[in-house]
Amino acid sequence: MITLGIESTAHTFGIGIVKDRKIIANVMDTYKTEKGGLKPSELAEHHLNVFKDVFKKALKKARIRMRDVDLISYSQGPGIGHALRIGAVVARTLALKLRKPLVGVNHCIAHLEIGELVTKAKDPVMLYVSGANTQVIAFEGNKYRIFGETLDMGVGNFLDSFARLLDIGFPGGPRIEELAKKGKKIIKLPYSVKGMDVSFGGLFTNIKQKIESGRYNKEDLAYSLQETIFAMLVEVSERAMAHTGKNELLLGGGVSCNKRLQEMAMKMCKERGAMFYAPQRDLLVDNGAMIAWLGYLMYKSGNKLRIKEAGILPYQRTDEVDVNWVGKK
Ligand code: ATP
Ligand code: FE2
Repeated sequence: MITLGIESTAHTFGIGIVKDRKIIANVMDTYKTEKGGLKPSELAEHHLNVFKDVFKKALKKARIRMRDVDLISYSQGPGIGHALRIGAVVARTLALKLRKPLVGVNHCIAHLEIGELVTKAKDPVMLYVSGANTQVIAFEGNKYRIFGETLDMGVGNFLDSFARLLDIGFPGGPRIEELAKKGKKIIKLPYSVKGMDVSFGGLFTNIKQKIESGRYNKEDLAYSLQETIFAMLVEVSERAMAHTGKNELLLGGGVSCNKRLQEMAMKMCKERGAMFYAPQRDLLVDNGAMIAWLGYLMYKSGNKLRIKEAGILPYQRTDEVDVNWVGKK
């Protein structure tokens, strides 16, 4: 069975194709800027402009024709309305044109499910850290639950805002990672963990003042910032593992491409005798393959949408989703 998955929750428009349990294409195009942030309307424009090309490339990579597709899956939410709408329209159009069934999936759960497909993780706690999202998720009591999350901004958006203050472009994460390698001195920064939640607002104000004071160099600031926020993220992940009694940690989201975060998370797992898993980069960032895979799992368990119901859910919460596929994989 061939499933085509469409991702368009934020910056990335992606199409992935899975044939049963195998990923046979994962093509994406991500909106970037040289300076400044993004405008939601520009995201929609970007996704509209690239969709045809991404679609063609995905079919070519998978070596299939359009009519070979058996199922269409798309991310319904959470995400930016303008961006989500493009993916939903593409999905409905394809389902109508090909006369194939349609499923809508939760983006955050898709990150977790793809991690389970490509690593040996079976029932992990997932640290999901991307631009807009910062959540610690695990399966408990028949649902994927959020054990901890950010109380204000997502960690990726926080890193991108910091990068904007330093004027080093977007996305900021990878550039901060490079700068941090040259940092030597730890500067004390506010550390904000509340139970299994984190917050970045106070830290942002503090670091902004430090940049404006001109008394610190960029490298030390980047280094200290990474050490502080990654320690916060690893601490809440560990607390969720202790709370749920689970002994696997899985990473997801663009920020988890960061090697220093991976190293710190791995160390924590080692110390508590737990397993650490991180998928490869193109499956950590937003991608269509994870949407196709979760769509396939859900469809096999009897979930599908009628075209009329196939809208978007920009504010969908992970624990609102009825999960009926776990245990049948
Ligand atoms: P969403 O929040 O909907 O999942 P997104 O558009 O933020 O979507 P991702 O591709 O998962 O999607 O993550 C992008 C974020 O990851 C950006 O904020 C970027 O700065 C950050 N990022 C990417 N690489 C690194 C890195 N090496 N270190 C730290 N942050 C990184
Ligand atoms: Fe994501």
